Amino acid sequence: MSLEELHLNLRNLMSDDYDQLKALMDAVYHDIGGAWPKRTIDKLIQEFPDGQIAIEDDGLLVGVALTVQVDYDEFSNPHKYDDLIGHRETILNNEDGDAMYGLDVLIHPDYRGYRLGRRLYEARKELCRSMNLRAILAGGRIPEYYQHADELTPAQYIDKVSRKEIYDPILSFQQANDFQVKRLLRKYLPEDEQSRGYATLLEWNNILFEPAANVLDTRPPRCV
Ligand SMILES: CC(C)(COP(=O)(O)OP(=O)(O)OC[C@H]1O[C@@H](n2cnc3c(N)ncnc32)[C@H](O)[C@@H]1OP(=O)(O)O)[C@@H](O)C(=O)NCCC(=O)NCCS
Repeated sequence: MSLEELHLNLRNLMSDDYDQLKALMDAVYHDIGGAWPKRTIDKLIQEFPDGQIAIEDDGLLVGVALTVQVDYDEFSNPHKYDDLIGHRETILNNEDGDAMYGLDVLIHPDYRGYRLGRRLYEARKELCRSMNLRAILAGGRIPEYYQHADELTPAQYIDKVSRKEIYDPILSFQQANDFQVKRLLRKYLPEDEQSRGYATLLEWNNILFEPAANVLDTRPPRCV
């Protein structure tokens, strides 16, 4: 299959996409719990429609990026995946948040390597710019770590991936999209055995971000 043969369309995810989305997520995340329930996806679409981005080929859903708004100070520090999830698998979207958090990005296995993941990330970055949010944050698994866990600490592993001495299917992808590793997260997703529960806290800074003037300095002028 060549890129020229594809009939790609980038658009917002809709509630009617759920059956296709479920099949895709169950296939890709079979080892870490599969798809989100429909009510979770519907709530995301309702609360932050622009943040849920899909890519289709001739009507077939082949990729998706799910995003919430969060408070930068809270999520740019160590946290667990569960901190994003409320009761009954509802995802906690903060409509006043000053940053975006990438919950998921996934591409159908037959469609990988065509830079569709990059297209979803570009759309997410464009949204971050247009909403004048400060950054995109994400917790990224390191699924190749288990192959090296006997001889490398997670920090050494991340360093080698950053130097392109080791390729990690997620971290190499994130770094190719200009995300910087800020921290190492422990017990992020404990059931993720391949990453041994570790993850990287990733950040892409919106350099066009302009803080509101009154946020810069709210103190009254000092008399000298
Ligand atoms: C990660 C994923 C979304 C990448 O999608 P993709 O469409 O194949 O990636 P792209 O073709 O857009 O690749 C973009 C860049 O990332 C790099 N990259 C992608 N997959 C990679 C891999 N397995 N190893 C190393 N680098 C990789 C590419 O080299 C590319 O860089 P380039 O454009 O400079 O050549 C896809 O592999 C996937 O769905 N994985 C399973 C779901 C998952 O774990 N998602 C991450 C959740 S945190």
